[in-house]
Amino acid sequence: MVTIHHIRQVFAGKRVFLTGHTGFKGSWLLQILAYCGAEVTGYALPPEKAQDLYYQIDGDSLCVKSHFKDIRNIDQLQAAFEEAKPDFVFHLAAQPLVLKSYQDPLYTFEVNTMGTAHVLEVLKKYSQPCVAVMVTTDKVYENNDRGKNFSENDPLGGFDPYSASKAACELIISSYRHSFFHYSKMATHGKSIVSVRAGNVIGGGDYADNRIIPDIIRSLENNEEIVLRNPKSTRPWQHVLEPLAIYLDLAMHMFKEPDQWNEAFNIGPDKSDVWTVEDLAKEAISVAGKGRLRIEQNPDAPHEAALLMLDNQKIKDKLHWKPRMNAREAIGASIQWYLDEEDASARCLKQIKSFFDDEIQDAEHD
Ligand SMILES: NC(=O)c1ccc[n+]([C@@H]2O[C@H](COP(=O)([O-])OP(=O)(O)OC[C@H]3O[C@@H](n4cnc5c(N)ncnc54)[C@H](O)[C@@H]3O)[C@@H](O)[C@H]2O)c1
Repeated sequence: MVTIHHIRQVFAGKRVFLTGHTGFKGSWLLQILAYCGAEVTGYALPPEKAQDLYYQIDGDSLCVKSHFKDIRNIDQLQAAFEEAKPDFVFHLAAQPLVLKSYQDPLYTFEVNTMGTAHVLEVLKKYSQPCVAVMVTTDKVYENNDRGKNFSENDPLGGFDPYSASKAACELIISSYRHSFFHYSKMATHGKSIVSVRAGNVIGGGDYADNRIIPDIIRSLENNEEIVLRNPKSTRPWQHVLEPLAIYLDLAMHMFKEPDQWNEAFNIGPDKSDVWTVEDLAKEAISVAGKGRLRIEQNPDAPHEAALLMLDNQKIKDKLHWKPRMNAREAIGASIQWYLDEEDASARCLKQIKSFFDDEIQDAEHD
């Protein structure tokens, strides 16, 4: 299992280009990378809310350079990329919300699909070897709500614009990989590319609209009932550090064996941690020690998949990975983050160290 010590060994002093560094997952990844001595260039829009995690952790201070720019502008992306000269790319920038994708499908398609194509195109023009981890989602599969456990070879699809845009990203990544970054020509192009399909992540520092943990926290803070619109929907819940650890682990393997890892990988919890929204909310209430639920189903709400499960066997086999937190622990850590009173950086670092079991290595490092 990857440790902070391993990450430091590979990433200390390396140049990393991180898109979406101002977002929820990006802010956590930025902290791990900075803690491990990587030189991170960030590229994303500015955080949307004053309370966003990026501001709380003073994300600018963790970057060598932070670009607040649009991924749809390929010239600006190209310039930032050339200046950064990265050894690693993590592409997280996206419009990631299903409901927002119904409100603005064109924007979602532009940012997600063309944003991904722009990152790949910039990589194509880049003459140095580079490892790239391209983040899509578990929603890329053709899902008819029949309870299938999706594995990587299942057909891609997508009912809502967000899911369809991310399925399209998978096709774009696959096309670039076959056309320009084929593993058999690694000596010529030097690019190693994976796509990662992670499930719903939870954790402290998420303030997005229409996501379950931020919704619960807002309700608790305002002493209001927690309203559940889709109580019986099931999702493969994972703590945010779980997929981030895998992105880093994959990147380290790709760095060592660039021709061995050019595929798509599901990232999800074990089946026993695929919980309903209602069960997650009840557990959150028990951790917080307060809160009431109200079910308010809206028959006119836009369609969202009711059942979503991922087969995680491939990543388990290839990385010898197993989840470090079950759903109960992930919910506990997420809610606890908001309850703690230390500053946000200290709270994140405490959870990062505990997740990676870093106390011993940390003492050695310091
Ligand atoms: N959070 C989850 O549960 C989850 C699950 C599966 C996959 N993902 C994927 O993980 C990635 C990160 O998600 P998140 O939860 O951190 O989302 P987020 O909304 O918190 O962050 C999104 C990031 O993308 C950036 N971005 C958005 N539009 C942009 C644009 N036009 N130009 C440049 N940057 C832009 C934002 O500035 C932000 O930094 C996304 O690709 C998302 O689809 C998230």
